[in-house]
Amino acid sequence: MNIILLGAPGAGKGTQATKISDAYALPHISTGDIFRENIKNQTEIGLLAKSFIDKGQLVPDEVTCKIVEERIGRADCQNGYMLDGFPRTIAQAEALDAITKIDLVINIDVDFSLLMDRLCGRRVCKDCGESYHVSRLGGATTCSRCGGELYQRKDDNPETVQSRLDVYNAQTAPLIEYYEKKGLLFNVVGNTTPEDVYAKVAAKLDSLK
Ligand code: AP5
Repeated sequence: MNIILLGAPGAGKGTQATKISDAYALPHISTGDIFRENIKNQTEIGLLAKSFIDKGQLVPDEVTCKIVEERIGRADCQNGYMLDGFPRTIAQAEALDAITKIDLVINIDVDFSLLMDRLCGRRVCKDCGESYHVSRLGGATTCSRCGGELYQRKDDNPETVQSRLDVYNAQTAPLIEYYEKKGLLFNVVGNTTPEDVYAKVAAKLDSLK
């Protein structure tokens, strides 16, 4: 099964992707994670991506599409995969349609008023990628799963988050209608707990088996 996770920044795509990937043995492909890995390794793509990500803008379509095409062409994606954060523009969705068949698009719908706090309060483990909210950490600075150091993403500050939300509204939100018209869209309300959201997503995935 080939799945797309759609949703605004902070909607909980990464949180749900980890759970789905574990339960359904689907490779989790996050374009954001791929760019951050490239930035860490100071590759040419990383240097280019950084200039856009730091401003809350999208990395150009041609760069992003090439990365995804290469990634889903690998052996571990032969029996399905889950895309997190791709596509983000109509052009990316059309490029994806030209190379693969998508079975389901899960759109996590969260009140915009919650997103700024979720993102500015997020802390991420440097080692395993687990994310936390600062209000529930009780002052802890290490990951309760693996002991790794927690850090704040550079793009999780109020100004950049606002820009990411604006970009989402202008360029990514139209994908909801795009996939609705294709009959592929599954909407799930993301305002409740991660466990509750996951239970609804899992019920949908099980119904498609
Ligand atoms: P990316 O890394 O994809 O960032 P994003 O889409 O902004 O999404 P986030 O990772 O910030 O949020 P999320 O929805 O995964 O939420 P999470 O589960 O962490 O992209 C970063 C940048 O890379 C982009 O801005 C762009 O520049 C570039 N890029 C990436 N893909 C691209 C593309 N296709 N084209 C061009 N450029 C691209 O949850 C957030 C917080 O909320 C966490 O603290 C979590 O613990 C908490 N939380 C999650 N679920 C719940 C819940 N149900 N209740 C309460 N709290 C919750």
